[in-house]
Amino acid sequence: PAKSFGGCAAAVDYSYKLLYCGLIGRSWAMVFAGGGFRVKLYDIVQQQITSALEYISKYLLLEWFTLSSEVYYSCINWRISNAIYYYFLFQECTPEKLELKKKIFGQLDLIVSNDVILSSSTSTLLPTKLFTGLKHVKQCIVAHPVNPPYYVPLVELVPHPETEPSTVDKTHALMKKIGQSPVKLTKEIDGFVLNRLQYAVISEAWRLVGEGVISPADLDLVMSDGLGMRYAFIGPLETMHLNAEGYSQCIFCSYKLSQFLSKHIYS
Ligand SMILES: NC(=O)c1ccc[n+]([C@@H]2O[C@H](COP(=O)([O-])OP(=O)(O)OC[C@H]3O[C@@H](n4cnc5c(N)ncnc54)[C@H](O)[C@@H]3O)[C@@H](O)[C@H]2O)c1
Repeated sequence: PAKSFGGCAAAVDYSYKLLYCGLIGRSWAMVFAGGGFRVKLYDIVQQQITSALEYISKYLLLEWFTLSSEVYYSCINWRISNAIYYYFLFQECTPEKLELKKKIFGQLDLIVSNDVILSSSTSTLLPTKLFTGLKHVKQCIVAHPVNPPYYVPLVELVPHPETEPSTVDKTHALMKKIGQSPVKLTKEIDGFVLNRLQYAVISEAWRLVGEGVISPADLDLVMSDGLGMRYAFIGPLETMHLNAEGYSQCIFCSYKLSQFLSKHIYS
C-alpha cells in the first residue's frame, strides 16, 4: 500500500498511493484512483478527510473515469496503515511551508524502504531546499501538478541533483499511466517552467497596459481570443516551426525580442 500526508498524499505499490487531503491532495487521489491505483489519504485534521471523501463522491457522479463509481470509490481509503514500508509512492500535499515539508520528509526518511518514491506537490520550493541531507534523497522528486489536476494534466517533474534517473523515469511512467502529461526538468530552477512562462506573459501584459498601449480588457482578449486559442493546441516552439515562409527570420526576430525583454524588462 501507499500512504499520503497532509492535504491528501498518495503512494502506490503498483496498486497503492498515499496522499494528504487538502485541495491538491484530494485531486491527486481522484487522478490516481482513476488510473487504477489504490490510494490512502492521510491528514492531521479529521474534518479534511471527511470533506475530501464527500468532495470525491460528489464529483464521481460526473463519471469522468472509465471505472464505475463503486470501483473507483473503493480505491480510495482514508484509513492509515502502519505498513508504510510497502507503499510505492508518497505524494506530499501539505501547505506550502518549507519547515513543515522538511519535517514530514525527515520523518518519512526514517521509515521508508529503498524503493518508495517520495514526491512533493510543491509549487515553489526547490528540491535542494526540501530534500538535501535525506538518507533517501535519490528517491525524492517534485511532481508539481496544475490545479485542478483532473482537468489540467500537466505535471512538472523536478529532480534534486542527487535524485536517481530511475526515480524520474518511474514517476514519469506512473504519471503517464494515470493519464497526466508529465514533463521532465533536468535541473531545478525558481518557478520551474510553467510559472516562468506564465510570469513572462503577465509581466509583459502589465507593461503594455501600464504604458497605455492597450486597455486591460483588450489585453485579455488578445490572449483569450488570440494566442490562447493557438496555445491550447500547440506550444510556442511548434508555432514558430509551423510559421512556414521566413521561419529562420522569425526565429531571429523572436530571439532578438527575447534578448531585448530580458535586458530591459526582466533584469
Ligand atoms: N492549490 C493549488 O492551486 C496548487 C497547485 C499546485 C500545487 N500546489 C501545492 O500543493 C500543496 C498543497 O496545497 P493545497 O492547496 O492542497 O493546500 P490545502 O491547504 O488545501 O491542504 C493542505 C492540507 O495539509 C494538511 N496538513 C497540514 N499539516 C499537515 C501535517 N503535518 N501532516 C498531514 N497533513 C497536514 C491540512 O490539514 C490540509 O488538509 C502545496 O505545496 C501547494 O503549493 C497547490
